[in-house]
Amino acid sequence: MAVTGDVYNTGLLKRIFQYVKPYRAVFVWSVILTVLLAAISPIRPFLIKYTLDHYILAGKYSGLVNMTMLMIFMLILQTLIQYNHTLLTNTLGQSVIRDLRINVFNHITKLRLKFFDQTPIGQLITRTVSDLETIADIFSEGLISMIGDSLQVVVIVGVMLYTDWELSMVVLLPIPLLIMATRKFQKAIKIAFQEIRNEVSNLNTFLQEHITGVSIVQYFARERQEYKKFYAINKRYRDANIRSNWYYSIFFPVVELISAMSLGLLIWYGARSILAKPLDVTPGTITQFIMYLGMVFTPIRQLADKFNTLQMGMVGAERVFKVLDTKDTTPNEGRQKPEKLAGNIEFKNVWFAYNEDHYVLKDLTFEVKAGETIALVGATGAGKSSTINILNRFYETGKGKVTVDGIQIEDFDLDYLRSHIATVLQDVFLFSDTILNNITLNNAEITMEQVVNAAKKVGAHEFIERLPGGYQYNVMERGATLSAGQAQLISFIRALVHNPAILVLDEATSSVDTETELLIQKAIDNLMEGRTSIVIAHRLSTIQKANLIVVLDKGEIKEKGTHQELLKLDGYYKKLYDLQFSSKGIAKV
Ligand SMILES: Nc1ncnc2c1ncn2[C@@H]1O[C@H](COP(=O)(O)OP(=O)(O)OP(=O)(O)O)[C@@H](O)[C@H]1O
Ligand SMILES: [Mg+2]
Repeated sequence: MAVTGDVYNTGLLKRIFQYVKPYRAVFVWSVILTVLLAAISPIRPFLIKYTLDHYILAGKYSGLVNMTMLMIFMLILQTLIQYNHTLLTNTLGQSVIRDLRINVFNHITKLRLKFFDQTPIGQLITRTVSDLETIADIFSEGLISMIGDSLQVVVIVGVMLYTDWELSMVVLLPIPLLIMATRKFQKAIKIAFQEIRNEVSNLNTFLQEHITGVSIVQYFARERQEYKKFYAINKRYRDANIRSNWYYSIFFPVVELISAMSLGLLIWYGARSILAKPLDVTPGTITQFIMYLGMVFTPIRQLADKFNTLQMGMVGAERVFKVLDTKDTTPNEGRQKPEKLAGNIEFKNVWFAYNEDHYVLKDLTFEVKAGETIALVGATGAGKSSTINILNRFYETGKGKVTVDGIQIEDFDLDYLRSHIATVLQDVFLFSDTILNNITLNNAEITMEQVVNAAKKVGAHEFIERLPGGYQYNVMERGATLSAGQAQLISFIRALVHNPAILVLDEATSSVDTETELLIQKAIDNLMEGRTSIVIAHRLSTIQKANLIVVLDKGEIKEKGTHQELLKLDGYYKKLYDLQFSSKGIAKV
């Protein structure tokens, strides 16, 4: 994956700072405290030097107490500023990424299905969790403290030069060496960090998929093979981490070495001049310089690290903004919101392709009158699900048009259109939440009474009541604690309480026991009552009741008519019917 996030990318930085705007006060205070910290840190060593030279060595012990009090005061002040500084910068970082994360989530939920067809879920999770976390570090550990560190270096070097410029020149001699080492380190570590980020994304994607699909792994006893794959990803992740740590393990001792050189120079030059011209370099100055050296080297060393934090934040930001910039949302320009929708649906010469020119629907033309039921039948891959996905505008048609009550679907307000079409998919998806919330989808307008009525109509009320907690029963992720038939019934209630004019039903093919089967058949009859329904039918009973059957084959309409008409025709449908139903003598596939 190409990663180009760069600290020098001012456009990107500006964009991140858009999110700082609501927290301007926090930001300003953080910077003020940073500057204060940098400004007061050189004071204590200076006080120590002064005490040493003017009181201790001069034998004036009377002023010692005052100086000590002053130093304690400075220490307390510094501690307080440090505390507030850490608190503020972290608050800023976390607030910024909370807002960003909400934006990202909001955006992701509006993206077209096509985007999700092409983007692994694990990758999106990495974007919204750990990539975002690196942006917070820009504020808590990166940018602001870099300003502070740089300032501290400048101030201390300034005070050193002021105190004794000759001595300063000597002890700062190894600094260019340090800067060179830092640059080298910083370049190497950047690449190592990028590798780490990529491997984190890979890890998340792999884990997400394999935990979701763990039953497949177990059914087919693929644990060993998957283990090997996971082992390989982990190894790459570990190696990337070790590489980055290796750079650190080289860099830190090098800095130590250079700072020892400075210290050596200080002692050499200091001792020499104390011996030669006793008044030139005082023991106080040497003590002060020893402390200052630490205060110059540590920030310079940290600057390299913080620069990387900033860099990683920028990389993270770039990736997150890339998701935000994905314009793959369904256009919502239609304004039509008729008072009532009768539900006359018409497909007129509709062509559709998921990927350019590879048409999976070819010239579909059919009509469903308000309140009637149409059954779509056809072999697997014939284009049944694709047909209903177009009606919802989950995917956009290539050519031709689809109208509801004579209005082209693109001209409807998108929310309006979708809220008037209830879709029950083949695979029921339930959230890890209560049955009630899974039915209402947190729509506060739906009352408990409506839910219970719908549940009774569908014939699911009894089984729900029997669950521990009834409607408050938590179904766990993807409805893991319910049977397939029960989950189906819940999804029917969900469709029913939303009381749509149009019902789209992709009948499940999964086998359920005879009792549940009867329940489901009855539920489907209730569901279709009084609405326009498009049903991808697998049950003979549903097919027989349809006003019109549309037989699809490789994206084309092969035959149209009622069950009896089509049987008489003795064509494709008859063959399909013989294959699926009559020979087995059962009413479902
Ligand atoms: N998201 C997608 N991206 C690309 N191609 C797709 C996508 N979904 C389906 N297809 C292709 O479109 C064609 C029609 O698929 P569709 O899902 O409409 O079949 P179907 O009739 O619903 O089959 P089934 O009875 O198995 O559900 C198939 O060839 C399939 O490979
Ligand atoms: Mg399908």
